[in-house]
Amino acid sequence: MKGKKILLGITGGIAAYKIAFLIRLLKKEEAEVKCIMTSASCDFISPLTIATLSENPVFIDFWNHKDGVWTNHVDLGLWPDLFLIAPLTANTLAKLANGYCDNLLTATYLSAKCPVFIAPAMDLDMYIHPTTVQNITTLVSYGVNVFPAEDGFLASGLLGKGRMTEPEDLVLRLSEFFQVKNELKGQKFLVTAGPTYEHIDPVRFIGNHSTGKMGYAIVEELIKRGAEVILVSGPTNIKLNHPSLKTVKITTADEMLLEVKKYWSDCTFGVFSAAVADYKPEVVEEQKIKKKEEEIVLKLVKNPDVLGWAGKNKTTKQFLVGFALETNDAIQNATRKIEAKNLDLIILNSLENEGAGFGYDTNRVTLISKQNQVVEFPLKSKKELAKDIVKILSLQK
Ligand code: CTP
Repeated sequence: MKGKKILLGITGGIAAYKIAFLIRLLKKEEAEVKCIMTSASCDFISPLTIATLSENPVFIDFWNHKDGVWTNHVDLGLWPDLFLIAPLTANTLAKLANGYCDNLLTATYLSAKCPVFIAPAMDLDMYIHPTTVQNITTLVSYGVNVFPAEDGFLASGLLGKGRMTEPEDLVLRLSEFFQVKNELKGQKFLVTAGPTYEHIDPVRFIGNHSTGKMGYAIVEELIKRGAEVILVSGPTNIKLNHPSLKTVKITTADEMLLEVKKYWSDCTFGVFSAAVADYKPEVVEEQKIKKKEEEIVLKLVKNPDVLGWAGKNKTTKQFLVGFALETNDAIQNATRKIEAKNLDLIILNSLENEGAGFGYDTNRVTLISKQNQVVEFPLKSKKELAKDIVKILSLQK
């Protein structure tokens, strides 16, 4: 992290005492550190300690009461390569999520243009309160990176989630962040994610349990590595905003195909992770079906194969990745799909393991290439898996 400019925002939680260690570690890594403290944080750790360790004046107020000098929060926001707010209390979190700027730290956050990281720390009931969860989700949707609170003993005497990520881990993750190169800069990815819903009538549909987590994790990782992404997404609860991301929301497979047809020829990579419904009702009733009959028969017809279309319309310069979910003869079936859909790589999902598949945060996959190379990954978080997958993709440019 030599020469990296790191702005640390410190808010008023007991974990503020650990920031002294964090600054020491950052300085050891030869980073340049400046700190903004909220007035509440000064009750937990002395500004003198922070100033001494960071070797820079500490910023607390908009203006210095002694000499009347104004601290320019805009300049401060533009200075760093990275802004880390640690510990982040529930109170400041709520302010950040709602655009308040009633102190130097929150105003600087609004002015900052660099990547922002937060390390929340609070008591466990505060941490799991829906308001806190929503506020964190909001910040994530604005592109803020979160070091989730960890399990352990809390200052209140309770045991649970709420501890700030340890300084050593924070430094490790930040140095990892700086090491990730923009190796996918200039590459344009078309990603499909989430389920499709096929209308039966104005209020009913046929759908599936896909949450879109795997596809969205891949999108996040692609963006981190500098790629430009067009995401064609079925209905999900995940929100992701980034200047390099264009999200197109669709509902049905037909709509997905329409959007893919618009963008595919412009892209260098396709990653088709959506759980597209294979069949749709032949007729979509205009009015809600009333329950008159004892039984009704719903005739289903095949949906277009979106990935199959992209494979048929692929140039030699494009690299296409599909997903497969097989319950038997997995490798043979997945390999057959590579040929049938003209893919370069297929990612085979396993439902056999506890913790893998729809709705879980973890997954277990096997990658099979067109050249028949097979790479098996152990059960890991979808985010970690996304890293592995994107690393492999970045070798294919
Ligand atoms: N796919 C698609 N459009 C469809 C169906 C699937 O784009 N109408 C894509 C998925 O996004 C995924 C891959 O194709 O990348 C899955 O292949 P598919 O042959 O549909 O797998 P299964 O649904 O498992 O098919 P089968 O029932 O033939 O095993």
